[in-house]
Amino acid sequence: MSDQTVTRTNDEQQSNSLTDQQPTSHTVDAETDEQLVDSWTDYEFEGEAAITVEDLDVYYGDDHAIDSISMEIPEQSVTALIGPSGCGKSTYLRCLNRMNDRIDSARVDGTVEIDGENIYEGDTDLVELRKKVGMVFQSPNPFPKSIRENVSYGPRKHGDVNVGLLGKLLGGDDSEAERRLVERSLKQAALWDEVSDRLEDNALGLSGGQQQRLCIARCLAVDPDVILMDEPASALDPVATAKIEDLIEQLAEEYTVVVVTHNMQQAARISDQTAVFLTGGQLVEYDDTDKIFENPESDRVEDYVTGKFG
Ligand SMILES: Nc1ncnc2c1ncn2[C@@H]1O[C@H](COP(=O)(O)OP(=O)(O)OP(=O)(O)O)[C@@H](O)[C@H]1O
Ligand SMILES: [Mg+2]
Repeated sequence: MSDQTVTRTNDEQQSNSLTDQQPTSHTVDAETDEQLVDSWTDYEFEGEAAITVEDLDVYYGDDHAIDSISMEIPEQSVTALIGPSGCGKSTYLRCLNRMNDRIDSARVDGTVEIDGENIYEGDTDLVELRKKVGMVFQSPNPFPKSIRENVSYGPRKHGDVNVGLLGKLLGGDDSEAERRLVERSLKQAALWDEVSDRLEDNALGLSGGQQQRLCIARCLAVDPDVILMDEPASALDPVATAKIEDLIEQLAEEYTVVVVTHNMQQAARISDQTAVFLTGGQLVEYDDTDKIFENPESDRVEDYVTGKFG
């Protein structure tokens, strides 16, 4: 956790829990009579918000997957999204770069503001949006191309690197700018040292952990502001997972990282703030990661983070 994390004294925590316990919403979870309290999700932080979500609802046909979520995500930090399977974490994450547009039955209401613009307004350029807000998935999904081509794919497609006439004719690499971009992105993704002498090898020959870092390099190559990660280490062994965790913490010095994880220890290790989603697509509590894990306001969140359910 970064030094942004506020350590609260027991007295402060107690006084917070006393003053914050005013139920302001009447939503009641099917499994419990605990009422949602607005102040539990009203996270205050220093610095700027990279993303401001207001009154977000998502429906798949008649199913209500995200229930009126409002949440500000601070820039240049790691925000973890946790909660039991099916509570809407991936759906919510996909709203942040309009990936749900690709699902026919999905309907999204509400606003998601990035750089002062609501991305759900009609004239949003989705290609630009997804450059600015990149995504890394659970299973590494490199293209069946060379390591170099995987990284330069986005910038080439968007015309952001001049590949030169020879490059265009041969599909090869004759551009110094491209070479620098590939090196920079692979270094940022902590993969350069392992692949610098085999850039022309097929990416599918890399290990799972290397493939995932390659996908992160591919995402970084188009110069995003925000990186969304949906369980990026859940398919990896502990050593590869540790590398991804270190990388996420480093990336947050420059980028805004939002990461879904099922691994509670991972959320506690790498994130600055944690949002807990529970059944029915509700955001129940959102606060500094220390607070969520050590002294949450919600009994349900306490049960969840201490492993009593989920
Ligand atoms: N493409 C889809 N079409 C219809 N319903 C969907 C679709 N994707 C998700 N859902 C439903 O929306 C709800 C939330 O799903 P989502 O995948 O966002 O949950 P999650 O928290 O990411 O779960 P997990 O931890 O298992 O990945 C679930 O009830 C799920 O069945
Ligand atoms: Mg999911």
